[in-house]
Amino acid sequence: VQPLRLGLAGLGTVGIGVVKIVQRHADLITARTGRPVTITAVSARDRTKNRDADLSGYAWEVDPVALARRDDVDVFVEVMGGHEGAAKAATEAALAAGKDVVTANKALLAHHGQALAEMAEAAGRVIRFEAAVAGGIPVIKALTEGLAGNRIKRVMGVMNGTCNYILTRMQNAGLPYETVFEEARQLGYLEADPTLDVGGIDAGHKLSLLASIAFGTKVAFNHVELEGIGNVSIEDINLADEMGYHIKLLGVAQISGRGLEQRMTPCLVPADSPFGQLQGGTNMVMLEGDSVGQIVLRGPGAGEGPTASAVMADVLDIARGLRLPTFGQPASTLAEATPARSATP
Ligand code: NAP
Ligand code: HSE
Repeated sequence: VQPLRLGLAGLGTVGIGVVKIVQRHADLITARTGRPVTITAVSARDRTKNRDADLSGYAWEVDPVALARRDDVDVFVEVMGGHEGAAKAATEAALAAGKDVVTANKALLAHHGQALAEMAEAAGRVIRFEAAVAGGIPVIKALTEGLAGNRIKRVMGVMNGTCNYILTRMQNAGLPYETVFEEARQLGYLEADPTLDVGGIDAGHKLSLLASIAFGTKVAFNHVELEGIGNVSIEDINLADEMGYHIKLLGVAQISGRGLEQRMTPCLVPADSPFGQLQGGTNMVMLEGDSVGQIVLRGPGAGEGPTASAVMADVLDIARGLRLPTFGQPASTLAEATPARSATP
């Protein structure tokens, strides 16, 4: 049996998590897919860095585009990040070279998902991104597979663990935003550009991807009404608490008579509700289908193990020969998303 050969671009938090699962669960993966999954080559910027994993058996490419084009790579796994530059160029190169792609990169998909999905389909390839939304929670599989027989009415969720950490810490410890923001920075929770987290942009990327799958519309990140948590004060939190509410950065996507509504904003939620009780870096997504009603998925939205777990779910699908289209239906059949509200820049 031919192994499925991965080219792994990115050896940071997620990439090393992928290495560890491939090595630790080799037998399990073969049993589940009927073929071994191996890593043949890897890429990162600094070859001298100690990465807490055995990479000795893998070829090294400094240039991820060269990695994407290697003959001994079947699936290009992009876990570098960034929506322009190397991640985009290498993903395009991989598809052009006839490789399938698995990525954890929500920014890339939110900005270029339609074009990449069309490119993949034209090449007879797939590009999958389970890890890009809500980390370890298999929310994309839930939408594209488990709920495939439903018309989705609403998607709602807390999708940025860092913001949820900051808000719950302010709530529980009575600390001001600036103090907890600094704490989050020291704990390494914040993205290199923290506005991606606290500005709601990262969560908005994720919501736009879920909305596309849920409603069969082209990804419309530019139409997400976005407000981050930077203006939430400890006074707001205390006042909400007195009224029996907690403040959460909550995303909602639904189709109304006016079009597709997508909002990612700080919201008051009843303190004793499941969303109100959500602590720390945990994510939670509610999916509402016309037949199933409401289901709730809750779990770790980030981190080495959870995110690599989701990357590997896509890799195993490909190893099994399951070739679902990127957004749950062919990219060419996705409708234009008519925004229900005025677009935000
Ligand atoms: P990270 O720890 O910063 O690692 C990024 C890796 O990519 C590093 O190994 C870096 O190389 C490599 N890299 C960056 N630019 C490169 C380039 N031009 N050429 C070659 N290698 C390059 O990032 P991460 O946290 O693993 O995140 C990776 C992706 O997963 C991102 O898209 C992120 O949004 C997504 N994601 C992350 C999480 C999470 O919990 N961390 C959760 C969900 C999704 P060096 O090590 O040499 O610098
Ligand atoms: N910065 C993101 C978060 C990482 O805090 O949820 C996972 O996507």
